[in-house]
Amino acid sequence: MTILAIETSCDETGAAVVEGCGNRVKIFSNAVGSQIKIHQRYGGVVPELAARRHAEMIVSVIEKALNQAFPNYDGDAQIFAKNIDAIAVTNAPGLIIALLVGLEAAKSLAFAWSKPLIGVNHLEGHIYSVLAESGIQDASFFNSPSLALIVSGGHTELILIHKYGDYQVLGRTRDDAAGEAFDKAAKILSLPYPGGPAISKAAIEGLADAHKMPLAMLNSKDFDFSFAGIKTHVLNLVKELKRGSVPFIANIAASFQEAICDILVAKTIAAALHHRIKSIIITGGVSANARLREKFQEAAQIENLNCHFPSLELSGDNAAMIGIAGYLKARSNKFDDIFKLKAMPKIKW
Ligand code: KG4
Ligand code: ZN
Repeated sequence: MTILAIETSCDETGAAVVEGCGNRVKIFSNAVGSQIKIHQRYGGVVPELAARRHAEMIVSVIEKALNQAFPNYDGDAQIFAKNIDAIAVTNAPGLIIALLVGLEAAKSLAFAWSKPLIGVNHLEGHIYSVLAESGIQDASFFNSPSLALIVSGGHTELILIHKYGDYQVLGRTRDDAAGEAFDKAAKILSLPYPGGPAISKAAIEGLADAHKMPLAMLNSKDFDFSFAGIKTHVLNLVKELKRGSVPFIANIAASFQEAICDILVAKTIAAALHHRIKSIIITGGVSANARLREKFQEAAQIENLNCHFPSLELSGDNAAMIGIAGYLKARSNKFDDIFKLKAMPKIKW
């Protein structure tokens, strides 16, 4: 089954062509139109601007994905249509006006080309992104229980996956998402947006133990997270200390990054041990963080657990992961009604 996938839930306009066969998936193309420059001066995503840019970009990004997947067809929409079996699109969760752009584009194509439509939960997209270019060979991995930590700009969720399609939310953030904390701390430190890559770059020159950060909820009995306190601590440090020097920023960045990683690793490993799960998936934009990957690998080795990360290209938002999740849904014969599928800001697992 060859799927054209579309993703516009936040600030990346994505389109991809993915092929699924049995338990395996293959990515033919994965086009992303980034909006980082637009949102950079605001230090975060501005929904109205994101939606406008999606509307401007969506057709050319879809065209790019199709041309890359079928290079010999030279923009011929009819031949593209013949080669596509279904259209997958993120319909939740996300910024509603951003989601609507991709959803309406997907519906229009599905209607015009008479193709089935598959609405995809963006977070399932992040989970199943590990099926391409990671250590996980195929979807039979999900026949056994696993644990997923989804860490992005909008989400920090610990999901127990009993099997494909059967989820249990074990915990989530009570305030800021981990990526949001990175973005806000970067803004306080006058580092560019997105904050995650900027902080991890600054942290290379810093000492992770230079500042003691509050490790909120580390010892709480549940698997919830809280990152607002660490961010406020960064603000207080910046106010108190003599600011501006490079070591000053580097030390705060390194201490901040270490604290976020420590909490994410400790809580996730505790949840895995508590539920006797052997395999952990760490996914979403923040999973690109090198220190986080390192700390997870170290902790998992000690506890004899397996950690799986998406490739760096698939860590952040992209349409290929929506195509993969869409394929798995289509394989279970779950298609959506073109005239009824709605964009939703939140989802129920
Ligand atoms: O998954 P994603 O692309 O979009 C959402 O669904 O939110 O995640 C974006 C988030 C941003 O907050 C960004 O700062 C963070 O991922 N991020 C990182 C890194 N790369 C991106 N955070 C920490 N370290 C990184 N290397
Ligand atoms: Zn995402």
